[in-house]
Amino acid sequence: MLKAVLLAAGEGTRMKSKTHKVLHKIFDKTILGYEIDVLKSLNVSEIIAVVGSCSEQIQDTFPDLIYAMQNERLGTGHAAMMAADHLDDEGDVIVLYGDIPLITAECIKAIYDYHKEGGYHVTMTSAIVENPYGYGRVIRENGTFKKIVEQKDASPEEAIVKEINTGVYCYKAKELKYALSKLDNNNAQKEYYLTDTLEILLKAKYSAGVFVADSAEDFYGINTRVQLFEATKIMQKRINEKHMLNGVTIIDRDNTYIGPDVTIGEDTIIYPGVLIEGNTAIGKDCEIGVNSRIKDAVIGNECTIQSSIILNSQIGNHVSIGPFSHIRPDCVLGDNVKIGDFVEIKKSTIGDGTKAAHLTYIGDAEVGKNINFGCGTVVVNYDGKHKYKTIIKDNVFIGCNSNLLSPVTVNEGAYIAAGSTITDDVPNNALAIARARQVLKLDWKLKEK
Ligand code: UD1
Ligand code: CA
Repeated sequence: MLKAVLLAAGEGTRMKSKTHKVLHKIFDKTILGYEIDVLKSLNVSEIIAVVGSCSEQIQDTFPDLIYAMQNERLGTGHAAMMAADHLDDEGDVIVLYGDIPLITAECIKAIYDYHKEGGYHVTMTSAIVENPYGYGRVIRENGTFKKIVEQKDASPEEAIVKEINTGVYCYKAKELKYALSKLDNNNAQKEYYLTDTLEILLKAKYSAGVFVADSAEDFYGINTRVQLFEATKIMQKRINEKHMLNGVTIIDRDNTYIGPDVTIGEDTIIYPGVLIEGNTAIGKDCEIGVNSRIKDAVIGNECTIQSSIILNSQIGNHVSIGPFSHIRPDCVLGDNVKIGDFVEIKKSTIGDGTKAAHLTYIGDAEVGKNINFGCGTVVVNYDGKHKYKTIIKDNVFIGCNSNLLSPVTVNEGAYIAAGSTITDDVPNNALAIARARQVLKLDWKLKEK
């Protein structure tokens, strides 16, 4: 059995924020969310999160974790003690800090495999870094691991050591509980250090392994918004390169923002300044033009999106949208639809082959196939108090600058004259003209004087 303990009771004061540190986001996923997803992908049986101040925010965001409270912030070892009641004597426990969102499943798996294969009671993870300042140092004697010494407790000889503690550990559950029961706070910070558990176990003749990671990048910790930015850049590079290797062209890797859960098909091209978030799935052979934002949308194959916003909607194949259009939540667009410039669509279905090429608003409408919206059409869905539904059946032609006052139905094949304000249902194949006739006052200008 494998359980995980996430330490997230720190106050995160250096973020200078009303939002808890671990709830800050890289793209649209929280710092803690990345770690939880990694742990879930490793099939750990339980995730125990140790939380302190503002823990309601965390508990609301992740209701399916097990929570242990640390009311006083007395150190990482003290935080781990708070989780001890949730641990059995059997199995293993991964302990990690809640502020390392770049950690990967492969990385934890490698550490855990090393732990199992070595049969260790505890395994820590180290990395060699150029600037070890601030980290716990890995102290060895003739190459053999002895202990971890924190920055504030380090002697000058210890302080120059470049092998640091990354803060990811595997323990046998029983030995972790034993070591926690022996911790003291006899150190520079008067804290209970989790790092002391290694020395305690070695002194009690248990074994400790050190997994030396290839790079420190996966363990990058976030304490400030500058570090949040640095981590975002690393995550951005990882995500964008993953898509590139899967056959997506990203013209500017450093100026394209794709969330971790987005999928994109082969031969799609992403132009600079694009932001794609949430559970978005984009098909093959699409072109996502500059400065588009797409969130929680499903987009088919061969679509062209130019400088537009698409939120929580479903778009068919071979659809063209934009420039400067806004597809608001709950829209379903069929195949071969053309939405041109300055068009807003809200909570509407649009059938195959329908076109709204310019300056149109469509709200709360059920729109059929092969309909042409003339420039400046407005679906008037709101009377100031209530919203109403408009139904437009297949093959309707709507002349420019028409208003469709909801609720109203325009039946199949009908034709609406330009400039009409349609208040009544239009029958099949009818022509509706709803505007004042033109009046001509001949030579009016001449008589004016
Ligand atoms: C810790 C390690 C250090 C390591 C470094 C890696 C200890 C004593 N030191 O130092 O060896 O090199 O991480 O980044 O463990 N936390 C609690 N309750 C507390 C204190 C901390 O839950 O009372 C949580 C924090 O929310 C944070 C994590 O533990 O997620 C680490 O705490 P932090 O104070 O950042 O430890 P470091 O000083 O960075
Ligand atoms: Ca830290």
